[in-house]
This record gives sequence, structure tokens and C-alpha cells, in this order.
Amino acid sequence: MSAELNTLYMPQDAEILERIQESPTLFTLRLRFTDPNLQDQFQFEAGQFNMVYLYGVGEIPISIVSDPKDSHIIDHTIRIVGRVTQGLANLKAGDHVGLRGPYGRGWPLQQAEQDDVIIITGGLGCAPVVSVINYVAHRRERFGHLNIVQGVKHSDDFIWRERYDQWRELPDTTVLLAADEGTPLWPWHIGLVTDLFDNLVYDPQRVNVMMCGPEGMMRVVTKNMLAAGVEPCNIWLSMERNMQCAVGHCGHCQYGKHFICKDGPVFCYEQVADLFGIKGF
Ligand SMILES: Cc1cc2nc3c(=O)[nH]c(=O)nc-3n(C[C@H](O)[C@H](O)[C@H](O)COP(=O)(O)OP(=O)(O)OC[C@H]3O[C@@H](n4cnc5c(N)ncnc54)[C@H](O)[C@@H]3O)c2cc1C
Ligand code: FES
Repeated sequence: MSAELNTLYMPQDAEILERIQESPTLFTLRLRFTDPNLQDQFQFEAGQFNMVYLYGVGEIPISIVSDPKDSHIIDHTIRIVGRVTQGLANLKAGDHVGLRGPYGRGWPLQQAEQDDVIIITGGLGCAPVVSVINYVAHRRERFGHLNIVQGVKHSDDFIWRERYDQWRELPDTTVLLAADEGTPLWPWHIGLVTDLFDNLVYDPQRVNVMMCGPEGMMRVVTKNMLAAGVEPCNIWLSMERNMQCAVGHCGHCQYGKHFICKDGPVFCYEQVADLFGIKGF
């Protein structure tokens, strides 16, 4: 392997500064590169991801959820689904992981300036857009109306209630929450997120819609947004596939002519419309 490739694939040591339990299956790791020069140089955009390496177990892609303006803070919110995520969940402050990144193309935040913004997440898929919400919140005057919409299967799956309460207090902001099923204590909508669309505040000609979550949900939302007159190039989707190299070499994350690691993970609908319509591709 050439020296250049070797560096591309080489995880760098990082320390866990803090571990926050967000819910029974979700936790946040706050990381810092052990090498201070690497830490100083580290810059990222909202929507980019790192490869997080659990020594002796494996390496996985995880979005960066902290605000890009505080690039010295590297937060990853992780859901336990299998081998690596379970192993990472067992770590504590002071433990070390390998880290390489940031990778991928993030959300179109500069393009979205002055426009209304609709952020729609489904299931536990909200992590990749937390950095977008933080970004807009810290630069509130540069954007139009901010709509934050989250749908969960069951009200018990809802996490980060405090954050949603804080976002609700932002100026010119609408927060809409829906659960397919809920306990009697769930104060928000019971049903699908799309039921809430009449409550969105936006100009279809001047809006950027950013979403992540299950592809079935993103398909339905996209159909609704197109029907409302939103341009396909203003609808943005965050796609997920298993990854290995994260730099466009191995083909593991291929999505038609695109590599999700390099050309995505965020795509505008126009770029992927042909494949996105094919369920299970
Ligand atoms: C660009 C990108 C950003 C991501 N950001 C986050 C994040 O911020 N937080 C987070 O918790 N997860 C995120 N993921 C998903 C995360 O990478 C996977 O959950 C992880 O690779 C699972 O590894 P594991 O060894 O724990 O599970 P495995 O043992 O490999 O798999 C357990 C189960 O999860 C499924 N699975 C594995 N990887 C994925 C995947 N990428 N998408 C859907 N199902 C998968 C497997 O098919 C299997 O059913 C992201 C994925 C991508 C591609
Ligand atoms: S993960 Fe190797 S090409 Fe994308």
C-alpha cells in the first residue's frame, strides 16, 4: 500500500472525554484526538461523518453531531445495533478509540441561507441533522422560518425532549412531533409525520427540505414535498449504506453511479431520483 493510501485508511488515536447516556440504546461520545496538532487541524461541515474504530473489533461510519463552529468538540451519538456499536457503548471517559475523517458531503447550509428550512427526521435518525439545527440556531438571522419535524414509531422511542423544548423557544421556529402510537402522556400528534404537513410554515419556492431516517419515510415525505411544489434540487436526503474505506475505493457503499461515502451521504433528490424510487435498492 502506498504511503498516501496508508494515511487515508489509518485511524488516529482519540480519547473519550465524556460519555452521555441519551436513552437505553443511545449514547453520545465526546472525543478528542490525542495528537494536539491533529485536533487543532480538525474541521468539519454539518452532515459529515467520521470512521470510528473500536480497537480489536471494527470500524463504523458515524455522523458528527456537534456544531462545526466548535470544531474542537467532536460529538458522536450512537445507537446500539450490533457488534461495534455495542462495544463502543461499553466504553467510558478516559478510554480510547481510533478516528479518521471527516468524510462525505454535508448539508447545503450556505445554499439554504435566506430560505425557509424544513428538517424532517424519522425513527432514531435524528443524529445527522442535530448539527444542522445547531448551525441554524447559532445563525438564526441568516435563515427564514425553521421547521423541525420528528416522527417516531412509539412515543417511548422519543429522545432529547429537552433539546426539542429548547428548539421550540428559538425565534421563527416551528417544532412538530408525531408518534405512530403513543402512551396517554404523549402530548403531541398520534399518527404519521405527513399528517402534520399543513402546519409547516414555508414558501415552496424558497425552502430547503433536509431529511434523514428510514428510506420508506423519506420516499413518502419527498412525494408530499414535490406535490407541494418544492423543487427536486431543494429536497435533501441523507443516505446510509454499510461502509469500509469511506474514501470511494472499495465500492461497499455504491448507490448506482454514486459512492455514498464520497458523493454523499447527503444528496439532493434530483441526483438520486431514479434509484430512490426503487424500493430495496
Ligand atoms: C454516513 C453514515 C452515518 C451514520 N451515522 C450514524 C450515527 O450518527 N449514529 C448511529 O448510531 N449510526 C450511524 N450510522 C449507522 C452505523 O454506521 C451502523 O449502525 C453501524 O455500522 C452498525 O455497526 P455494528 O457493528 O454495531 O452493527 P452490525 O453488527 O454491523 O449490524 C447490526 C445490524 O445493523 C444493520 N446495519 C449495519 N450498518 C448499517 C447501516 N449503515 N445502515 C442500516 N443498517 C445497518 C446490519 O445489517 C444488522 O442488521 C451511520 C451510517 C452511515 C453510512
Ligand atoms: S465505503 Fe468504500 S467506496 Fe464507499
